[in-house]
Amino acid sequence: MLFTACSPTILAQNPLLIPGVLEQSTITLNMQVGTYEFNEGVVTETYGVNRPILGPTIIVTQGQTADFTVVNNLPDTTTMHWHGIHLAPEHDGGPYSKIAPGESWNPVFEVMDEAGTYWYHPHLHHMTNHHVSKGLAGMIWVRDAEEQALDLPRTYGIDEFPIVIQTKDFDDEGQIVSPSRADDVLMVNATIEAVLEVPAQVVRLHLLDGSSERVFNLGFEGDETFQMIATEGGLLEAPLSLQRLRMAPGERSEWLLDLSGRQGDTLRMMSFASEFPSAVYGAAQPGMMAGQTMTDYDPNPMNGTDFTVLTLVVTAPTANPVTSIPTTLDLTNGQPWSEAEVDMSRVLNMAPATMGSTALDGDFTINGAAFDMDVINYTVELDDIEIWTINNNSPIGHPFHIHDVQFYILDRDGIAPAPEEAGRKDVVFVPAMTSVRFICKFEDFANPDVPYMYHCHMLVHEDGGMMGSFVVVDPNGVADVDASGASAFSLYPNPTSDQLEIVLDANAVGDVLRVFSLEGRLVYEGLLSDRSLHLSVSDWALGIYSFQLLGGASSQVQQLLVR
Ligand code: C2O
Ligand code: CU
Ligand code: CU
Repeated sequence: MLFTACSPTILAQNPLLIPGVLEQSTITLNMQVGTYEFNEGVVTETYGVNRPILGPTIIVTQGQTADFTVVNNLPDTTTMHWHGIHLAPEHDGGPYSKIAPGESWNPVFEVMDEAGTYWYHPHLHHMTNHHVSKGLAGMIWVRDAEEQALDLPRTYGIDEFPIVIQTKDFDDEGQIVSPSRADDVLMVNATIEAVLEVPAQVVRLHLLDGSSERVFNLGFEGDETFQMIATEGGLLEAPLSLQRLRMAPGERSEWLLDLSGRQGDTLRMMSFASEFPSAVYGAAQPGMMAGQTMTDYDPNPMNGTDFTVLTLVVTAPTANPVTSIPTTLDLTNGQPWSEAEVDMSRVLNMAPATMGSTALDGDFTINGAAFDMDVINYTVELDDIEIWTINNNSPIGHPFHIHDVQFYILDRDGIAPAPEEAGRKDVVFVPAMTSVRFICKFEDFANPDVPYMYHCHMLVHEDGGMMGSFVVVDPNGVADVDASGASAFSLYPNPTSDQLEIVLDANAVGDVLRVFSLEGRLVYEGLLSDRSLHLSVSDWALGIYSFQLLGGASSQVQQLLVR
C-alpha cells in the first residue's frame, strides 16, 4: 500500500474527474497506454480509452445505429465488451472477439436497449481483471422515448454525472497491482478522496461498481435518503426512496438527489460496510465461518468499516434547474412474462474448486467446471423464455452476470426481490449459500457459432474460470431445414490442418457457401458450381469455422475444426 487509505475523517480534496462525453453515432475508441497521477508527484502507468485512464461516457438513443471502431494501441491483445447491451454475439466483444495489438474492430449495431446505465470494458479470458484494473472502463448511457418525456437532469457534468466506484492496489513504486486483494485505495472516476460540486437543484448520478471484487453498501452520512430511478437496464416504474443500496461488481444504478435550497451544504456519500453480514467481499469477515481467511484480504481499513466514497458540495443553482422529482418513471418496465410461458429452466451451481480452508481464494467453478474456450455450455433456442436458478454453494457471495439479456429476479430463496431489485437487471448478487431465480427471454439474435457469456463479475473469479458460454440458435432458421435429415454437404477431413474437400448433394449445386470464423469474420465466400470443392486451409488461423450453405429455400451449417 502506497497511499493512505480513506477514512471518514479525512477531508476530500481532489475535484472529481469527469471523463469526456461522446454523443455521435460513429465513434472511435482508442485503447492506449498512459500515465496518471493518482497522488500528485507519483506517476502511475495506466490504460485508458481516448485518455490516460477510464474512457469517455457514450450517450446513445434507442433506435439509432452505433458504429464503433475500437483501436488497440496497447501492447496486449484484448477485447471490448458492451456490458448489458442487447446485440448480436459477434458484436458483443466477449473473449472470442480478440483485437491484437495494432488492430482494430468495428462492431455496428442498432441500439435496442431501454434507457439505463450500461458500461464497456475488456473481456479477454484470464486478462479481464488486469485490463480493467489498469483503467479500461467507461459508461454507456442509453436514452429512450419514455426517459426523454420526463423532466430529468440531462446536462453532462453539470447536473448529470458518471460515478465509477473502484478500489485498486498499488505497489511501493505507485504502480497498479493486479490481480490483488490488497485493494485498499478507493477512487471515484479515478479520483482519490474525490469532491464534486453540485448545484442546489435536482441532480442525477449514474453509479457503477467497477471494482474487481469489492461490494459497497452505499448511502449518505446521517442516513439522508436518495431517490433511485433505474436499475442496470431500465427505469423503475416509480422513484424509490432509499437510505442504503448494496452494489456489487458490475451493478449499476441511477439516483436523483433533490438539493433545492441546500446551497452551502456538504453531503458525504458513504459505504456502510460495517453493516455487511459476513461472507461479502468488503465485510469484516469475507467468509461464512469465523476464521475463514482470504489471501491479502487483511489488513485493509475498508473491510467492515464505514468510509467516505464521495463528498458533494452544494453550490448555486444553474439557470434552468430541474426542481422536482417525477412521481412515475416507466410503467412499461414491469416483469412481462408468466412462469407458465417458460420454455426451459436451468440450474447453475457456483462453487469453490476446493472446499476447506482455501475455499475463499478460488478457483471457483460453475456446475463443477472451469470455463473452457472450446466448450459451449448451453444452447438456447431463439425467442425462448427461460428461468435460471443460480445456487451459490460457496462460502462467499458472487455477483452473477449474463450477456445478451436483461432479466427480472423472480425470487431469492423463494422470497420476492426487494423493490430496488424489481427491475431490468443483468447482474445479481447471490449471497453465500443462497439461491436466486431470474427469468429472461433470448430475442432477436441467433448465431450458432459465436457464444455469449455468463460469469461471476468479481473479475478475479471470472478470470479464474467462474464463467460459461451459451449460443442462441434459431430452430426455424439455418439448422436442420433439410426435411430428409441429410446434410446438404459434408466436410472431409474434419478436423483438418491443410486440405479440405467439400462434397455437395446434387441439389446444393448453385448454392452460396460462406465460411465464418468464431469471431464472426467472413473468411470465404463463393458460388458452388460443382458437387465438389477443394480448399486449402493451411493459412487459416487454428480454431472452429462455421460453413454456411445458403440455398433458395434452405440453408445448412457445418462446423470445421482447423488444427
Ligand atoms: Cu461486464 Cu461479461 O461482463
Ligand atoms: Cu457483460
Ligand atoms: Cu465470484
